[in-house]
Amino acid sequence: GKYRVISTKSMPGTRWINLLIEQDCRLEICTEKKTILSVEDILALIGDRCDGVIGQLTEDWGETLFSALSRAGGKAFSNMAVGYNNVDVEAANKYGVAVGNTPGVLTETTAELAASLSLAAARRIVEADEFMRAGKYEGWLPHLFVGNLLKGQTVGVIGAGRIGSAYARMMIEGFKMNLIYYDLYQATRLEKFVTAYGQFLKASGEQPVTWKRAASMEEVLREADVISLHPILDKHVPPCNKERLHDERAILVNCSRGPVVDEVALVEHLRENPMFRVGLDVFEDEPYMKPGLADMKNAVVVPHIASASKWTREGLATLAALNVLGKIKGYSVWGNPNSVDAFLNGSSQPPA
Ligand code: GLV
Ligand code: GLV
Repeated sequence: GKYRVISTKSMPGTRWINLLIEQDCRLEICTEKKTILSVEDILALIGDRCDGVIGQLTEDWGETLFSALSRAGGKAFSNMAVGYNNVDVEAANKYGVAVGNTPGVLTETTAELAASLSLAAARRIVEADEFMRAGKYEGWLPHLFVGNLLKGQTVGVIGAGRIGSAYARMMIEGFKMNLIYYDLYQATRLEKFVTAYGQFLKASGEQPVTWKRAASMEEVLREADVISLHPILDKHVPPCNKERLHDERAILVNCSRGPVVDEVALVEHLRENPMFRVGLDVFEDEPYMKPGLADMKNAVVVPHIASASKWTREGLATLAALNVLGKIKGYSVWGNPNSVDAFLNGSSQPPA
């Protein structure tokens, strides 16, 4: 291979590997056993010659790594993730390294986990499972694990992009929920879907569903019965903190990034409001949970697995490889491979 490409982790599938080695790349997959590589570990991997790197969302891609990659002749970096808050895009630009992310292939998989957590929280699935396994079930009772009916309630989405909209559709179509959403941009297609579905329900003699675009995220938190968070993590998104958490019986789901929620305030809110429930895939300080969270029966917690379906994880790996390859070989896969924005705003379909 003419080009030295590094993947900081082994990734699912073989397509991404074949893509690279069939096109002049010598691929090195890091076999280090520790879960999260430090900046020093990655510096050692880059060495003095490296054309491109596929990295992970757990790694700190800032000034140090991009300057080293640039000195090693590197032109491309791709995160194996749609989120890129671990990447300092400005630093990458400064050192002439193109940055890519991997949107599109995780939309439905991630939305399905948000839906799973919503249902698990609404029907207290994990609590009930623990109860069964502990041998506590003595027979059917009118009060046993009574939860929430979703039908006719309101689903709230904060961040109605690809994932937020896919989640909203699942909840609306699946459970006939009304929608309230907050986003800087109007979610036109989602609004049209709800309107059309509402008309269909009405024509079938059922209660129609409705939608509303909220003026603030506070409005969503106030009015929705089930709220799912799907913003990107940046300085413009205020966290769900003590001031914003006041509902006593809503369900809150987070499959975006941990810092979108003030986890200490959340633990306190869960403790004071046993009817308030959460489903969390991400945490403020991964891999840790804030003290007390693990003891809360009204919380369902999973370890950042929202994109974890086989098809999606193989797709993420393939897109990451295409991002790096496209830049190295000088053909542009996504339009302008020099900016994350180009990926975010461009097509999310891989080339045929
Ligand atoms: C996962 O968290 C991703 O951003 O793809
Ligand atoms: C419950 O099992 C019922 O039959 O209502």
